[in-house]
Amino acid sequence: MEKGNAMAGVFESIQIKGLSISNRLVRSATWEGMCEQDGRPTPKLIDWYEQLARGGVGLIITGYTYVRPEGKQLPGKMGLYSNAFEREYRTLVDRVHDAGGKMVMQLVHAGGQTEEKNSGFPALAPSGIKVKQFPNLPRAMTSKDIKEVIGAFGVAAQRAKAYGFDGVQIHGAHGYLVNQFLSPLANQRTDEYGGSMENRARFLFEVYDEIREQVGHDYPVMIKLNAADHLDGGLELEDACFAASRLWEKGIDAIEVSSGTGASGKLGPVRTKILSPDKEAYNLELAMAVKERVGCPVMVVGGFRSLEQVETAIEEKSLDFVCLSRPLIREPDLPNRWAEGDTYPADCISCNKCFQPGMFKGGIYCVPLKAGEKGEGKD
Ligand SMILES: Cc1cc2nc3c(=O)[nH]c(=O)nc-3n(C[C@H](O)[C@H](O)[C@H](O)COP(=O)(O)O)c2cc1C
Repeated sequence: MEKGNAMAGVFESIQIKGLSISNRLVRSATWEGMCEQDGRPTPKLIDWYEQLARGGVGLIITGYTYVRPEGKQLPGKMGLYSNAFEREYRTLVDRVHDAGGKMVMQLVHAGGQTEEKNSGFPALAPSGIKVKQFPNLPRAMTSKDIKEVIGAFGVAAQRAKAYGFDGVQIHGAHGYLVNQFLSPLANQRTDEYGGSMENRARFLFEVYDEIREQVGHDYPVMIKLNAADHLDGGLELEDACFAASRLWEKGIDAIEVSSGTGASGKLGPVRTKILSPDKEAYNLELAMAVKERVGCPVMVVGGFRSLEQVETAIEEKSLDFVCLSRPLIREPDLPNRWAEGDTYPADCISCNKCFQPGMFKGGIYCVPLKAGEKGEGKD
């Protein structure tokens, strides 16, 4: 367990376990929609990651990568449910390392947030109930399903390590399976995985323990955690802090704080209209609350557009990293631009039109808005 470096500068390096990261800017996990139907990375995806690494971001977190076939959500998503893509993943990591980057793989199971037409399998969830962010009624997971999915997270993490990734991040945010177990709304189980917070967090803790068992104590294991779902009856800050502090005691290496689900409306994870400094940094207070409860580095994501707000988070609020998603779709070299002294804010206008080419055109990119047009989010 590492203590965060309070009062560090944005362009100061930091260590997470043996991993040396050259600055405090992180590419937050971003689905690119650039893989083949079965989750195999394409040359286009590999080129894109190399470009991100050349742009100077300290750490790249991959798009969400599914650990079992039924856990797939959006098209073109990365898959790590078998060894079939080893060659592509090794090439991907080598290209990022050769370009000076560091890379952590985000591991996910979409649970009830997917449907058969996306994954080819009926959706699984903690309970067989239809909450607002689920497209259909999922099947409640049996104890056997739970064990198998936990095992799949562990095997996927072990593969990521073997292929050369610098760490793994559990996707525990945005309403996906881990978040579904944490949420009293989506998790209405009456066994040891439901009810009290201790029980609702059991799935996450077992996923963490299994990953740790597979990758050992020296390998960075992180989490992206919802500190609040912003849903009536959903996960609240106090319960999220319980999960965060217990994970820290268990040895988690970093916690990225996010919030919201696809059903949270204006308080979703990928908010629009961040056009003035007061709209930026929308998870800052939540991240500071988590930081008070843990001793490991804390990352904050959500709406950072200006270097000024990034500096406030790191230099004044003592957070350890600021994560960026949409600004780097628009400008993959934003970190280098800021480091070189051009401190004009990110060009991204937070319209969320970048999702559309990922769904329909073989990969995300920044789509300029036409006059009068509005964008929309998915994640
Ligand atoms: C196109 C797109 C894909 C995303 N994919 C993921 C993902 O795979 N995993 C994840 O945790 N968050 C994902 N997100 C959410 C971002 O990581 C981030 O939490 C959110 O966009 C807020 O940060 P930003 O204001 O810097 O964009 C995605 C966002 C966008 C725009």
